[in-house]
Amino acid sequence: MLNIILCGAPGSGKGTQSEPLVRQFGLEHLSTGDVLREEIKSGSPLGQQIDALISRGEFVPDEHMIKLIEQFLDTRADDCKGIIFDGFPRTLNQAHALTELLNQRQLNAVMIDLQVDEQEVIQRLINRGKTSGRSDDNEATIRERLAIYHQRTQPIAQYYRQRGNYYPIDGNGDMQQIAERIRQVVSRLV
Ligand code: C5P
Ligand code: MG
Repeated sequence: MLNIILCGAPGSGKGTQSEPLVRQFGLEHLSTGDVLREEIKSGSPLGQQIDALISRGEFVPDEHMIKLIEQFLDTRADDCKGIIFDGFPRTLNQAHALTELLNQRQLNAVMIDLQVDEQEVIQRLINRGKTSGRSDDNEATIRERLAIYHQRTQPIAQYYRQRGNYYPIDGNGDMQQIAERIRQVVSRLV
C-alpha cells in the first residue's frame, strides 16, 4: 500500500492534484476538509461548532480529527491500493497520531509537500472564493489560515524529512505540469 500525505498551504492544490493521483494510481482520496464540510451541511450541533472554527480559519481539535482518521482506516484501509491524506495531519500531534495508527496496521506513509509562493496561493484562494461558497475563502480568513499554516503545519515537514519520507514538489505554475512532477515521484514509490 502506498499512503501519501499531500501537504501544502491552503490553495497549494492538494484537492486538485489528488484527482490525477486517484486516476493514475487507483488511490483512495480522503479530504478531511470535505468531511468536515459535509458535517456542517448536515446541520448537526457538531457541524455548527465546526462551522464556527472553519469560518475563522482555526483548526478542529486534534482528538476529533484523529478519531475521524481512525474510523476511515477501520472502514476503508483494507484491500485498497493506498490512501491520499489531503489536509491531514495539520499539526505535529496529528502527525504522531497518524504514525501510531498506521504502525498498528503495519502501514506507513510518505509526505508530498506542494510548495507554492505565498502570492500565488493568495491569488488562487481569492479566485476560488468567487465561486467556492466557502466561508473561509475571503481575504481576512485566508491570511489567518496562512499564518496558522506556517506556525502549526509547516513543522510537520521536518518530522517526515527526518524519517526519510519527504518529497518536496514545486507547486507553482500550470496544473498539468505540477501533476506530472508529482506523477514522476509517485511512480518511483509504488
Ligand atoms: O483542507 P481544507 O483546506 O479543505 O480544510 C478547510 C478547513 O478545515 C481548515 O482551514 C480548518 O479550519 C479545517 N480543518 C481542520 N483540521 C484538519 C483539516 C481541516 O481543522 N485536519
Ligand atoms: Mg482542499
